[in-house]
Amino acid sequence: MRNIVTGNWKSNKLWDEADKLMSELVTGIQSSGNTEVMVAPPTPFLAALQSKYNDQISLASQQCSANGEGAFTGEHTASMLKSIGVTSVLIGHSERRESFGETDEAVASKMERTLEAGLRAILCCGENLDERDAGNHFERVLGQLSHALKNVDAAGMEQVVIAYEPIWAIGTGRTASAAQAQEMHATIRQHLSTLYNETVASSTRILYGGSCKPSNALEIFTQPDVNGGLIGGASLNSSDFLAIVAASNEAISKAV
Ligand code: 13P
Repeated sequence: MRNIVTGNWKSNKLWDEADKLMSELVTGIQSSGNTEVMVAPPTPFLAALQSKYNDQISLASQQCSANGEGAFTGEHTASMLKSIGVTSVLIGHSERRESFGETDEAVASKMERTLEAGLRAILCCGENLDERDAGNHFERVLGQLSHALKNVDAAGMEQVVIAYEPIWAIGTGRTASAAQAQEMHATIRQHLSTLYNETVASSTRILYGGSCKPSNALEIFTQPDVNGGLIGGASLNSSDFLAIVAASNEAISKAV
């Protein structure tokens, strides 16, 4: 199973900067080894980056509409993303849940729209610090997953990647320890075997996100249930992001 390393640029960079970063990544990733490299730039840049770099690095959208085509000003549908060559959509990122009121219901609808459009969903989940301190983190994360996946069957899971991003580790410099990441990833995998079956559980990629950087990526990626990363701040700089991709390749080669 190949790892996936995805850069989530969030709301950062103007066009010239985005173009420069993409060009550095394309040059730097001559052979990505056993890691699929993907970036999720701001929405206004998706079409131009796709036509300029033409599938050299696959593109994800940072979100999509819970609806189909219609009178929904400001929204972009999963099918529109598919039509310009985007391959994947981040769904349920904690920043969307917390700052834009994205509910579990909306996340479930976005999952459906994304899979219907033939795109891959990168489903994000994660607990906040209060939930972690109260010992409710497993319940919180598994609850998010059960909701989001309620209309996804075992065949649909082939299009789903999960990203565990503890909110207290996002942009804080405070990463989960490798043991904390592994413990949650193993619990998520176990949950997938309950919701679906062993095959789905073992073949679904589970990425870690939250202050992942060159200095800690290898240790996190060598955990048995970690299949790559969703990278925020460190994806805004090509040398850091390329070092994280290299860490993923090294982790895979050690595992073989
Ligand atoms: P940071 O890597 O900046 O902590 O962000 C993680 C994240 O939210 C990726 O989606």
